[in-house]
Parts: sequence; C-alpha cells; structure tokens
Amino acid sequence: MAIDLRSDTVTQPSAAMREAIAAAPVGDDVYGDDPTVNSLEERVAALFGKEAGLFSPTGSLANQLLIRTLVKPGEELLTEERAHIVRAELGAGAAFSGITTRTWSSDRGLLNADAPLALAHESAGPYLVSTKAIAVENTHNFGGGTVQPIDEIARLSEGAHARGIAMHLDGARIWNAHIASGVSFAEYGKHFDTISVCLSKGLGAPVGSIALGSKEAIAEARIWRKRYGAGMRQVGLLAAAGHFALDHNIERLAEDHARAHRIATALAAHDKSLIDPATVETNIVGLELSATGMSAADFASRCKERGLWISALGKSYARLVTHLDFDDQQCEAAIAIMVEVLA
Ligand SMILES: Cc1ncc(COP(=O)(O)O)c(C=O)c1O
Repeated sequence: MAIDLRSDTVTQPSAAMREAIAAAPVGDDVYGDDPTVNSLEERVAALFGKEAGLFSPTGSLANQLLIRTLVKPGEELLTEERAHIVRAELGAGAAFSGITTRTWSSDRGLLNADAPLALAHESAGPYLVSTKAIAVENTHNFGGGTVQPIDEIARLSEGAHARGIAMHLDGARIWNAHIASGVSFAEYGKHFDTISVCLSKGLGAPVGSIALGSKEAIAEARIWRKRYGAGMRQVGLLAAAGHFALDHNIERLAEDHARAHRIATALAAHDKSLIDPATVETNIVGLELSATGMSAADFASRCKERGLWISALGKSYARLVTHLDFDDQQCEAAIAIMVEVLA
C-alpha cells in the first residue's frame, strides 16, 4: 500500500466514525430541521465565541461565503501572497463577489502585523480602492504549516478594527495551531469577525467546514449558500462525522506534528539545505530542493515509484503532510524512501 502524504485530506473515515454517521438523527437542513447539523453549528460557534455557525461542504465555500459579508463588489480584501484564499480558490472572490485583493509578502507566511497595516487603505474615497477586510491563514498551508503568533494577530486586529477594517480567519487548520501553541479557540476567535474552520483536514471527517460569525453575517451566508446551490438536506450524516472528529481527533494532532518534525530532522541530517526542522511547527513539511539539482516534480515522481506520494507545489518546492492514517512505521519507511531518492 502506498504511503500518501500529499495532504491531510486523504484520510479514510474510521469504523467508529462510520458508526457515528450511521446513527445520526437527521432532518431537512434547508428547513433548519437537522438536529445534528444544528448542534454542530452551535458547538463550533460556542468553541470560538461566535454567535452563529453554518455547515459548508468545503473550506473554500466557507471562506467565500464569509468574505462576501465583509467586502462588497469593488472593495478590497488584503491577505498574504500565498494564502489559500488568493492562490487556491480560483479567483472565487473576484468571480462571484467582485472582491479585489492586494497581498503582502512574508517568510513562511508568518504574520507581522506591520505589513498588512502598512498596505491597508481604508476609506480611500473616489480615487483608490478602499480596504474592507484582512484575511489571516492559521496555520499557513503553503507557508509550511506556520503557526501565527497570537501577539501579532492581536496587534493586527486592534490596528485594523481601529480603522474600521474587518478581520477574517481562514482557520482550515486552526486545530493544529491550537495544539502547537496552546492558545485557546476562544482566544483566537475574539480577534476575528468571521472564521472558517475545516473538519475534513487533520480532524479526519470526510467532508465539512463551518463558517462562523455574527447572527447577521451567518444569516446572509445561509442565503448565499443556497443561492450557490449548496443548501443540503439530510446532511446531519456529515455533521455527525464532524462531531466525532471534534470528540476524538483534536488532541492526537500532536502525533502528526511529532512525525512531521521527525521527517524534517531526518532529511535535514541528510542535507540541511532541504529544510530547517525548527520551522516545522505542525503537520506540514515543505522541502526546498533547489540545491539537489532535482525538480520537485522529479522528486515526487521518484518517490511515487517507490510507494510514497507527495505534492510538488513549485518548481523546487515539495510538500508532505502528516495525518491520522500515517503511523510511526510508515514514517520511517517514508524517510528511507526520500533518503534513497536524494542519495
Ligand atoms: C488553508 C486552507 N484554507 C482553505 C482550504 C479549502 O478547503 P476545501 O478544500 O475544503 O475547499 C484549504 C484546503 O486545503 C486550506 O489549506
């Protein structure tokens, strides 16, 4: 069997999760009748100290439903240049909501509040685009699983709100940030107006994200979810997987982080230009292959021939993501394969 480290989205629902799915009480969620969806939305909203939540089939849709409540057509959202919202949602904010974006650069996606605060231009009048919101990604996926420092989040939130600019959190992997930093979900939550979280990444649910915000924002997002064709019926089957994931799969993320660190340490011992293990804070290992003379695509395909699947995300940048279907034995096997390919 191949070892699949392309993403933490590749996991199989466990037998116990499938039992929870089978046992879920359900109803027609478009009528608001699904008790399992309703309790999941309330549960996640309470966790982050928000008024309301909305079940969404994907993290991308949750992000898009939320940012359109903050930024109107022709207005501006700021984010980091490798953020999922601007790199991997295929221009959805522009295509569906008329949102324009500008981006700031950073090392590993690590937030320094000065960069967005310098870029922001609120109330820009009739000549320039007005900044309405700033999006922060935590952890930062394409930055290599970077955990955003809570002090910088707080400084940015305070500075932005003082200027009438809203804050959005793309918290697809906020669970990993919480485990790595010890910062509570409520503490993260209080700095943001809207938040998206994913249940289908490290937490291992097959489908599902929750959009969070004020009652008004979520009521608006609910209308747009239906308008986009994503009003779902007995979707408590999926919400039950989300409840199971929250009950069982948060604390164990520490294991994924330890294995990612183990991989980074072993590869750095082989060639320290590949990665600095100190930068591997969560479950993502980003490898810089330029000094090896091998492209990321080449590296990925040679690993694949040997039974290890990884992602080539740039010319010389490869990504591995650890997850709940990846154990210590597979970790050692994956390291051995990569060392052999690099030799
Ligand atoms: C940081 C981040 N945000 C949002 C998403 C979107 O999630 P989905 O694939 O469910 O649309 C992803 C997916 O990988 C992600 O990494």
